Amino acid sequence: MDPVVKYILDRSRELNPSIVEWRRDFHMHPELAYQERRTASIVAGKLREWGYEVATGIAETGVVGLLRGGDSGGTIALRADMDALPLEELNDVPYKSRVKGVMHACGHDAHTAMLLGAARILSEIRNRLRGNVKLIFQPAEEGGNGAERMVREGVLEDPHVDVIYGIHVWSLLESGKIGLREGPILAAVGVIEIEVKGKGGHGAYPHTCIDPIVAGSSIVSNLQSIVSRNLDPLEPGVVSICSFQAGRAFNVIPEKAVLKGTYRALTKEALSLIRRRIREIAGKTCEAYDVECSIRVEDRTPPTINEPQATRFARKVLAEAFGEDALTEIKPSMGGEDFAFYLEKVPGAFINLGTGNPAKKTNMPHHSPWFDVDEDVLYMGAAIHSLLAYRFLSSRGRNARL
Ligand code: NI
Repeated sequence: MDPVVKYILDRSRELNPSIVEWRRDFHMHPELAYQERRTASIVAGKLREWGYEVATGIAETGVVGLLRGGDSGGTIALRADMDALPLEELNDVPYKSRVKGVMHACGHDAHTAMLLGAARILSEIRNRLRGNVKLIFQPAEEGGNGAERMVREGVLEDPHVDVIYGIHVWSLLESGKIGLREGPILAAVGVIEIEVKGKGGHGAYPHTCIDPIVAGSSIVSNLQSIVSRNLDPLEPGVVSICSFQAGRAFNVIPEKAVLKGTYRALTKEALSLIRRRIREIAGKTCEAYDVECSIRVEDRTPPTINEPQATRFARKVLAEAFGEDALTEIKPSMGGEDFAFYLEKVPGAFINLGTGNPAKKTNMPHHSPWFDVDEDVLYMGAAIHSLLAYRFLSSRGRNARL
């Protein structure tokens, strides 16, 4: 085995207690999107200590660490997200969130800690790196499109990023498994907001009113035909109305109803078909019920599409290091991920690291108040990042192709 690969594997295991300690600290002090100041300052402090050139305040709270390597085998970027979610943790653990109503329920605390682990290892082998490593710690993955702002503020340039990798811990994947897939792996996401305006009045005299609830209900039902009747059955799509707010009393027909939801697809074409049909169907339904409506249907995040060559490269590197058995082909999911914005600009791949272990109850769904990660495998995240960086820069050093 290549001695540097062996060093990375041994060192990552050795660093697991530190990675766990960092993760627990972030877990106890979760911060919402664009408020990751404490997390960012800890990250920046460690990167400086380990000899990185550090830039802070990118997209408000983002941090980028740059390690300049020897001969230019190009630049690899590795990314972690730092934000938590607005929910109350129900786990009874010593490292339980100390911030009321805020919790790391998606594992971004682990992502930040694993990338710090890699930062440490890469700084120790910097003389063996044939190019640059850029570590991107971004804010606001959860609905805030922090990645889009990081890209707009230039994180993929100066030096130009040739390839990018990101890891997401995954509770529904067996602990220690590495999930990979070429092509689309996460959905393009759109947001729906429809306001239906009728004419309120007494529930006993509907004929004197224009009922926005009946019109709104009809919109919810009619939208179901988009995926079943308009979209190619072989093409995945989702239309979900997740919030319907109208009225307060049992005998009052309200003035208006507000519907909120999301639409998703794995391709931009399917997404735009769904978007167009939501607008048409909601508009015509409102016309039929004689209500006024304002319809906002907006694409938020593009699909996350793993570039085939970069994915195959990762598969080869990780199979060599962890064995074929550790790798598994994952199915695409209709969740969204702003890592998509990086992949729109440069090749790369988004990799899942399984952290689901029923014996440790770390197989709860993401965004659940019971979510937790199997900390014993976090070293793998640090190793994956480091191995990809070392191998990619070595391959580029010899030959300027991925
Ligand atoms: Ni997440």
